[in-house]
Amino acid sequence: MNPQYILVEKIERVGLIRFNRPKALNALSPELMDELGQALEAFDADPDIGAIVLTGNERAFAAGADIKAMATASAAEMLLNDLIARWETIHHIKKPIIAAVSGYALGGGFELAMACDMIVASESAQFGQPEINLGVIPGFGGTQRLTRAVGKALAMEMVLLDRRLSAQEALQYGLVNHVYPVEIYLEEALKLAQKLAGQAPVAVRLGKEAVNKAFELSLHEGLAFERRAFQILFATEDQKEGMAAFIEKRRPQWKGR
Ligand code: CAA
Repeated sequence: MNPQYILVEKIERVGLIRFNRPKALNALSPELMDELGQALEAFDADPDIGAIVLTGNERAFAAGADIKAMATASAAEMLLNDLIARWETIHHIKKPIIAAVSGYALGGGFELAMACDMIVASESAQFGQPEINLGVIPGFGGTQRLTRAVGKALAMEMVLLDRRLSAQEALQYGLVNHVYPVEIYLEEALKLAQKLAGQAPVAVRLGKEAVNKAFELSLHEGLAFERRAFQILFATEDQKEGMAAFIEKRRPQWKGR
């Protein structure tokens, strides 16, 4: 893979993916999203990688789906080509993904950040769903994930009136995990990712899956999923090691099995 629109690197056990269309404020073109999907899948399959960080640059995480790539499309083309379908890859990634967001996270950029497992923001981050100004609505979860996170009243204002959230507001609404000065937000996101990559891998995978089930299942079904995942973890060497290490007052050595 020789990507043109993203930069990919490994930092110890973390896979870092940076959007790299700075002149277009990292607008998420179909080509960029194809490359992102491939990079995410490659890191997910790489046993040396334990967590992934997705970022843009200081000015823009991403200013949305590429408006120029869809401006003249017909509804039939949008349906048949389903430009958004290629965005779905992120939902299938098993390893934890952190979005490190600075500047604009608008439209599809904000939706992609919300599809990640955690968000670390810089003080300059700005979150919004401005699609209404283009005569459309969000197309990758902006009416669903956002509403679950901030409630109906604010979601309506954001989707219908392009009300934007500052980093601090996003933190207050629980959309964002941490806010840092712009000079250090990426470094802090990478530190958090290294911490995630150092946790027991099977438990991390099931923990991520179980939390995500909370958005999809009834409470009864979600609790049943959680219970079964908890029980299954007793088949791992890491459970034996983790509990033995606690009792012996030492640090556990995870094996990922
Ligand atoms: N798609 C394509 N190009 C974009 C873009 C986008 N979403 N956002 C910015 N750009 C391009 C601009 O066209 C411009 O390119 P040119 O220099 O070739 O004209 C370049 O990036 C710089 O942008 P601006 O000159 O507009 O920069 P600014 O500082 O004046 O404004 C901004 C910044 C407020 C983010 C403004 O660019 C903007 O409003 N962008 C569009 C945001 C938006 O509507 N996003 C939603 C897209 S639809 C979507 O995402 C659907 C979905 O749910 C999946």
